[in-house]
Amino acid sequence: MQFNLTEEHLMIRQAARDFAQTELKPGVIERDEYQKFPAEQIKKLGELGFLGMMVSPEYGGSGMDAISYSIVMEELSKVDASASVVVSVNNSLVCYGLEKYGNEEQKQKYLVPLAQGQVIGAFCLSEPEAGSDATSQRTTAIDMGDYYLLNGTKNWITNGSTASTYIVMAQTDAAKKHRGINALIVEKGLEGFTVGPKENKLGIRGSDTHSLMFTDVKIPKENRIGEDGFGFKFAMATLEGGRIGIASQALGIASGAYELSVQYAKERKAFGKTLGDLQAIQFKLADMATEIEAARLLCYRAAWLKDNKLPYAQAASMAKLFASETAMRTTIEAVQIHGGYGFVKEYHVERLMRDAKITQIYEGTSEIQRIVISREVLK
Ligand code: CAA
Repeated sequence: MQFNLTEEHLMIRQAARDFAQTELKPGVIERDEYQKFPAEQIKKLGELGFLGMMVSPEYGGSGMDAISYSIVMEELSKVDASASVVVSVNNSLVCYGLEKYGNEEQKQKYLVPLAQGQVIGAFCLSEPEAGSDATSQRTTAIDMGDYYLLNGTKNWITNGSTASTYIVMAQTDAAKKHRGINALIVEKGLEGFTVGPKENKLGIRGSDTHSLMFTDVKIPKENRIGEDGFGFKFAMATLEGGRIGIASQALGIASGAYELSVQYAKERKAFGKTLGDLQAIQFKLADMATEIEAARLLCYRAAWLKDNKLPYAQAASMAKLFASETAMRTTIEAVQIHGGYGFVKEYHVERLMRDAKITQIYEGTSEIQRIVISREVLK
């Protein structure tokens, strides 16, 4: 067992750190305020190979490991979680699933441009009445012979209006329950496919979240991923890797708030000392540092298991559960350490606190992670 990152990991970390400081930090407050999607920044992330990080070079990806992905997610999320969620969804929920379960034609047609960052993708599972209870899909994909007829509504879709390729889960045979669900590749612009208004959110306000409506949209049969009825397993297997991405995002939000707090504690004077000389602040920083380190180890462990083709569902859920709770606790403390300055936008920590909340909700709430973990525990 060894805990050191490789030379390559360190280089990737530096590249992501530089990108976050030079490309994401300027304008991050404004993008949050006006809910502006970081389009230019995402384009550049695509050019750097960060949108298809783990995809094989054969399909236009960077061929990196999941640990590199976790490192990049942490570094970007320290500064801009609205940008990093695009990286996470594109890598984990769209590219990974297409590479692992798509056929050769689907990979050439859809995966290559996604991995090269020419277009971005979206993963469409949640519905108005099926969030955590993902087996209860109401969207239908009726088998019409050559094509599926897609009808229904998807909610809270990241990259909802900016994506070009959507992976949509829909029920083909309700009698078969989750075994009747299919995963379909849906292109933007198809007749009957409409995008709802942008959601006005508490956090990750720069990210592009919408409802999607499908009315008699014709999806060619060749756009189904895997065998008939494979859609629910596809979604679950894909979400396992997604949870490593969101765990790493939460880790980044926490470590971003922590680093700002350490810097502030060294500079800010009160009672004739710096804040860092006060034990009340020292203890807060010590707790933050310890929890962040634990969260990082959980993220790396889940990524390592994935890289080594070992089962990682429980590890990914543990990482997501702990890192997201750490993000929430750490960012609340970061605001407290900053006092009144923490409550205004210029100091960044209030945004990180708002952004932290979604990591306890999307890609499975903390309660869902506990279900996944406890099932393994009780097996
Ligand atoms: N890999 C492959 N198959 C899996 C699996 C996995 N990780 N987990 C479950 N399955 C299979 C099971 O084997 C079972 O199949 P069989 O019956 O054929 O054996 C089937 O899926 C159903 O499994 P369960 O009985 O465990 O299903 P459940 O109804 O009890 O639900 C759950 C399990 C864990 C609660 C699941 O519904 C879940 O994860 N819900 C949360 C959904 C979620 O994370 N949504 C996030 C939306 S996406 C998002 O947020 C993206 C974004 O934009 C940022």
